[in-house]
Amino acid sequence: MLSPRLLAAAKMVREGARLADVGTDHGYLPVYLSCKNKISFALASDIARGPLARAEENIANADMCGKIRTLLAPGLEGAENFEPTDIVIAGMGGEMIVSILDKAAFVRKGDIHLILQPMTKQEFLREYLCAEGFEFLREDLVCERQRIYQLILCRYTGKAYGLSALEKAVGPLNLKREDAALRNILKETVGRCEKILRGQQASGILDSQTLLLLSEARAKLEKLERRECCDGQ
Ligand SMILES: C[S@@+](CC[C@H](N)C(=O)[O-])C[C@H]1O[C@@H](n2cnc3c(N)ncnc32)[C@H](O)[C@@H]1O
Repeated sequence: MLSPRLLAAAKMVREGARLADVGTDHGYLPVYLSCKNKISFALASDIARGPLARAEENIANADMCGKIRTLLAPGLEGAENFEPTDIVIAGMGGEMIVSILDKAAFVRKGDIHLILQPMTKQEFLREYLCAEGFEFLREDLVCERQRIYQLILCRYTGKAYGLSALEKAVGPLNLKREDAALRNILKETVGRCEKILRGQQASGILDSQTLLLLSEARAKLEKLERRECCDGQ
């Protein structure tokens, strides 16, 4: 069984897809989706030999060698030849994901779905995606071992647009939620901003982007808590 984080990514992969799992490591995702017969083919790639060997072992143990190919390569290098329809890049920093996408012009096709799960720098990744014309189709927030993970499903349209500081940090679609996951990530965002600003207090120069994000996150949190309070009455 997959972890909640990888399961959320698996749910975003389309039925019958040709999957590319970049930075596959253990290969759990392509193995799970192939065993479930949800995908028609998978490419499991990784930049490092050790992780790829682990993936190869898991693929062989699941008897899925006929359905999953492995590739030792950085990012999406060489992946285009396998004509992926759905590309997962999970468990890496937002800056690394941007660097991988930026080097792969072939992902700029409306019929390719990108499923991204940044561990850090979510703002940086979303800023890149909206500036480069990728639209958000779905987002998710998943809690695993006391940590909230963000998932993004997007595709290329070529139409650039802007997002607020809070939309970049938490996700425009996630902000439409009204549940505990949203409340928790807003609290986490407020705490993170307060910590950054406390560290900057000695210098007397506070980062304007962090101040903006803090005020947007606090306002949204208050709105959410007011609604919960009204609903509870
Ligand atoms: C933390 S693991 C994530 C594994 C899996 N995707 C997951 O979400 O559970 C990150 C993996 O990405 C690989 N990796 C890091 N940078 C990469 C790059 N530029 N291209 C391909 N793989 C990369 C690492 O070798 C490692 O196996």
